[in-house]
Amino acid sequence: MLQNKKIVLGVCGSIAAYKAASLVRLLVKAGAEVQVVMTPDATGFITPLTLSTLSKKTVLVEYSNTETGEWNNHVELGLWADFMLIAPVSANTLAKMANGQSDNLLTAVYLSAKCPVYFAPAMDLDMWKHPATQQNIRQLQSYSNIMIPPGNGELASGLYGEGRMAEPEAIVSFLTAEIKKMLPLVNQKILVTAGPTYEAIDPVRFIGNHSSGKMGFAIADQFAAMGAEVILITGPTAQTSQQSGIKRVDITSAADMLEACLQYYKDVKACIMSAAVADFTPVNVSPQKIKKQDKDLNIELKKTTDILKTLGEQKHKGQILVGFALETNDEEKNAIDKLQRKNLDFIVLNSLNDEGAGFKTDTNKITIIDHHLQKTTFQLKNKNEVAKDICKKVAELIKA
Ligand code: CTP
Repeated sequence: MLQNKKIVLGVCGSIAAYKAASLVRLLVKAGAEVQVVMTPDATGFITPLTLSTLSKKTVLVEYSNTETGEWNNHVELGLWADFMLIAPVSANTLAKMANGQSDNLLTAVYLSAKCPVYFAPAMDLDMWKHPATQQNIRQLQSYSNIMIPPGNGELASGLYGEGRMAEPEAIVSFLTAEIKKMLPLVNQKILVTAGPTYEAIDPVRFIGNHSSGKMGFAIADQFAAMGAEVILITGPTAQTSQQSGIKRVDITSAADMLEACLQYYKDVKACIMSAAVADFTPVNVSPQKIKKQDKDLNIELKKTTDILKTLGEQKHKGQILVGFALETNDEEKNAIDKLQRKNLDFIVLNSLNDEGAGFKTDTNKITIIDHHLQKTTFQLKNKNEVAKDICKKVAELIKA
């Protein structure tokens, strides 16, 4: 969730400032880019050197860098951030924020920030309980700033009670949950299929195809990044998911894939069938390895069930079904035929005549045709970017 997120982390003068070191480490580990801004008082509790080493960025304290004469532009910092986190925030800085005072770089960045702001208070029990502090917190909440509440426990003064800054792990979990809430496909369940199927001939041989699974895995990753709950049914492949939380179901044959799809399909909002399912399977599977013979070997094949067509017949109101068409000739005509025959909301067409499209490559060139026969052709792109185009279209249909 925090991957590539730009975070301004404000650190104030409080004994809890030492926890900023683990907080920076956890945020960076989660893939965030962290710009630390400290109040002058905070530097008495933890050194800028510690936090710049962990964040791999110069820590900013003053409006200008006295050595280089450069100005630390608070407006730019406020615009750069995806969100601002002030942890720990002292009673003093809370009061300044609530009243729009900007007598240091951190409070000036706060006033310039257009992004969501989170604050994690840290102070002694009596300061925390004081009506002025509570009033300041309400004031910040009225500006839509979000508090990460302090915990209970032993305080630096020796008092026991509320006021301890939330632990760095709890702050990271809080932010992760908040970001998730803002994602466009949160609470949506989506089924994606990927890879080839293998149709057994005997215990050692099978009929397969060249599908690498890259496209389907990229789609599953993209949906997960958009907050969806993803079920990925995949044939044999070396691919792995980049996003966490994707439920992976491994299958081998077209019959296995049909069974798995039927199990999950009824509960999902959308299904993207990108697997290269075998159209034919051997009538008989030899229980023993077939031995070499003098004569030629004929393997009788029967048709597999068209999974996409079956799902199209069962589609309920509001459900979105997407198929793929990999064509070599009469591309659009064939794709439209599949779109209508299989009751799809849209079909993703790729032609083997386009260089860089199809199986095994890292790129793809697609045309999306929807059920109004509206056509959108995209440039040759990396499969992750193609996945974004496909998932964006699904998200638009879900919202519509
Ligand atoms: N598909 C499926 N079940 C099958 C075969 C294909 O669900 N047994 C799905 C694929 O996942 C893909 C779409 O159908 O989304 C198109 O696959 P394709 O094999 O190209 O289409 P067919 O309808 O089988 O037509 P043809 O083989 O004649 O091109």
